[in-house]
Amino acid sequence: MLTANDSAFQLDSVSLMSSILSELDAIARAAFEALGYPPEIAAVRESDRGDAPYQCNGAMAAAGIAKKRGEKVNPREIAAQAVEKMQANPAMGALEIAGPGFINITPADSLLTSRANELLSDPTSGLAVEAPKTIVVDYGGANVAKPMHVGHLRSAVLGEAIKRILRAQGHDVIGDVHMGDWGLQMGHLISELTEEQPDLPYFDADYQGDYPSESPVSMDDLARLYPAASNKAKSDTDRMELSRVATAQLQSGRRGYRALLEHFIDVSVAALKVGYGNLGVEFDLWKGEACVDPLIPDMIEGLKAAGITEEDEGALIINVDDKWDPETRKGTPPVMLLASSGAVLYHTTDLATLVDRKAEIDPDLIVYVVDQRQALHFEQVFRGAVKAGWYERDQLFHAGFGTMNGKDGKPFKTREGGVLRLEDLMGIMYDAASDRLESSGIGADFDAEERSEIARKIGLAALKFADLQNQRMTNYIFDPERFTAFEGKTGPYLLYAVVRIKSILRKAAEIGVAAGAINVQDDAEKQLVISLDAYGRAIELAADKYVPHVLCEHIYRVAQSFSRFYAGCPILADGVADDVKASRLALAQATLSQLEHGLNLLGISAPERM
Ligand code: ARG
Repeated sequence: MLTANDSAFQLDSVSLMSSILSELDAIARAAFEALGYPPEIAAVRESDRGDAPYQCNGAMAAAGIAKKRGEKVNPREIAAQAVEKMQANPAMGALEIAGPGFINITPADSLLTSRANELLSDPTSGLAVEAPKTIVVDYGGANVAKPMHVGHLRSAVLGEAIKRILRAQGHDVIGDVHMGDWGLQMGHLISELTEEQPDLPYFDADYQGDYPSESPVSMDDLARLYPAASNKAKSDTDRMELSRVATAQLQSGRRGYRALLEHFIDVSVAALKVGYGNLGVEFDLWKGEACVDPLIPDMIEGLKAAGITEEDEGALIINVDDKWDPETRKGTPPVMLLASSGAVLYHTTDLATLVDRKAEIDPDLIVYVVDQRQALHFEQVFRGAVKAGWYERDQLFHAGFGTMNGKDGKPFKTREGGVLRLEDLMGIMYDAASDRLESSGIGADFDAEERSEIARKIGLAALKFADLQNQRMTNYIFDPERFTAFEGKTGPYLLYAVVRIKSILRKAAEIGVAAGAINVQDDAEKQLVISLDAYGRAIELAADKYVPHVLCEHIYRVAQSFSRFYAGCPILADGVADDVKASRLALAQATLSQLEHGLNLLGISAPERM
């Protein structure tokens, strides 16, 4: 409980602020404006030098402006005038002019205290944007029939984090898995199943009755049928032709094949829900390529009527770049709407999906979290959609990412050279985490079930944090041992920080110490509050460029500030005054809330203890 006599409430001007930085920023801007300079030159930022936590470099720009006006003032003088004005505000602590005219800013203790109490009562304060948007995040992108592999891992992990970060800002965000369920792989499945079980009614072209509601295949069957067919087709052109024909007939609506497709999708979705669920990834929409197929004929008619399609060697295309040169292949190649065989292509289904989303959701923005190797595909699709007049270019964004590589620097494969299935990857992480627990003696006195649950959480946190802490475009190397270390910038280090605070809070409850109002005094306390205050900015940056690593960076910094605070400021020790205990405990509580909130945005959850 906060008490009103606390210094938290002494600042009448800052009853609700979005951050300490924004508060200081507003004061500095007002000071420069009052001196006759444009306020934006006075922006306050976090300082990169150790002298003070914040700085304002407006005086240098102001001197430049004054010079243009023919006045002769040096920046230090301007800084001195600005400092005098800023000093009048009680939110300002020490102000100091350095070098040619930098203003080093230390906030008043009362401002730190006020903000700390605000964060304590609402860990999300300062996160919401003024104008929330409707945003679709297209991620996951697993394919029906083919088991999920590590290539889908990054999309799922990054996409989930991006979705949650945008949601934390108050946007209305819809996550769509956009399954790959409409290509040659379907033809492979159908042709292979025809050979295996020719008597199924789905293959009888004359069959008029209802089809069985029970699927004739399981997920294991699908995982077996697809590689079998695709391998045969590689060396046998006749076999490939069977798959092509089956695909074409499916796409042109052959009844039995459509019924089979439904089964394949249902069986796959059930399996994918388990796979993604284990990864802590949830989708609002389980749509895919197949479900927009009915929109394609009208879409194509519309595009033709708009006069933007062309015939090109039997194919139907949209030119999306005046400078495209088919000879040198310079520029952006055309969108392929229909192949010369009449088949629908990857461009086509993505365009039809844009039509569907416009009609069903009318989003302000669509973010595609897909492998960077598909960058050209999205450039073509986006240009097509803009040319069609459906979207503005800035409503469509491809958030590409690099690959997770093996130690050889190539996209990660199993020892046998195959794609690693997601469940096997999770198994590797679980084992690495278990080894880690074992060797460090953590949880040695817990029962097997709890230890196993802890290992699962550590393995997942290790994997996700290792993935998310990289700038999304960079490739990184899969190194389970390094990922699961308890020291350094790792998932387990952060879980450890969370668990440590939880144990302090438990201990406090046991000995009857309650959290009270925060009153910031010690340097390490101030540092911690300043770290916590940067949360909203980290979220904003992470959201603006779809880069969760900025949030990872922030959380890591908070955990480190907490460590220093904990080392320097005993919380429950004998001899600590009661109000100091209550304040420090509350600060620990506020830190925990933010760490848990931030980790949750990254899709990471901590155990109760370890
Ligand atoms: N299924 C595709 C693949 O495995 C990814 C889908 C990405 N999303 C999209 N709208 N194209 O490569």
